[in-house]
Amino acid sequence: MPGSAMIGRLGGMGKVRIFAGDTVDNYAKHRRGYRPDVIGHLAAAFGVGAGSRVLDLGCGTGQLAYPFAEVAGAVIGMDPSVDMLAQARAGSTASNITWLLGADTDVPTLETLLGKESLDLATIGSALHWMEPAPLFAALARLLRPGGGVAVTANGIPMWTHDTPWSHALAEVSAEYLGKPDLSGCGTDDTARAGYAEALRAAGFTDVKEERFDYTEAHTPDDVIGSLYSAANLDALTDEQRADFDAALRAALGGGPFVEDVPVKVLTGRCATSG
Ligand SMILES: C[S@@+](CC[C@H](N)C(=O)[O-])C[C@H]1O[C@@H](n2cnc3c(N)ncnc32)[C@H](O)[C@@H]1O
Repeated sequence: MPGSAMIGRLGGMGKVRIFAGDTVDNYAKHRRGYRPDVIGHLAAAFGVGAGSRVLDLGCGTGQLAYPFAEVAGAVIGMDPSVDMLAQARAGSTASNITWLLGADTDVPTLETLLGKESLDLATIGSALHWMEPAPLFAALARLLRPGGGVAVTANGIPMWTHDTPWSHALAEVSAEYLGKPDLSGCGTDDTARAGYAEALRAAGFTDVKEERFDYTEAHTPDDVIGSLYSAANLDALTDEQRADFDAALRAALGGGPFVEDVPVKVLTGRCATSG
């Protein structure tokens, strides 16, 4: 979404998108979680159970880390945003998740810390578009046990990119207050997904394939607006402008219905070698 100032480099990290402040609260409240069929599919595909270790990179506020903590022995939720991690940690009572501040460029260090072939599954949910896939997948190929895997998931497309009247209204009002919204799809489109699949194969992963877990969902105006806020830089607005923006969004959206087709894409690759 708007706000290129929110993209930066921090310390030794590569490219990161800094999610902070109100954006993070809205992320925790309004971003959809993953349905059990996605978690079940991945757990079955990679034999994730009570003795397993899972890394969720770009974990945000725990959309994948939380459900995997229920099936795996231990989960590392890793993210470069201090606010995202704090929110994720505060929102869970699970005792088997370690929250770690770090970006894709920190993954090689995990090999030194944890050892080669120490993980069963690495998940990357709606976040690979902020990372460098080639060096990341090479590092994960060493960290994962043979037969373990990587899952690159896309949990729907941004709410302001649908071809529906309510989605157009969202994008138009957002453009007025925050500048032209990002319509790139954030790594959800077929071209980006094909590139991710190719990068997995190039790093030596086998059995690379994408499966779909689509569904349709009805939303309230609060869901729709909250989802926009979970990606927008509201800090750019004064309190008065925020109130105006909110009122303009509600007026443009009207009473609905707000029915969304949610394309859920799960790209996986299996680690065939010992790295
Ligand atoms: C759109 S959120 C996705 C959160 C969650 N995985 C989900 O599925 O909803 C993207 C996350 O990627 C994180 N991120 C941004 N740049 C990153 C990088 N270079 N390495 C790892 N995570 C990154 C952000 O802090 C943010 O929490």
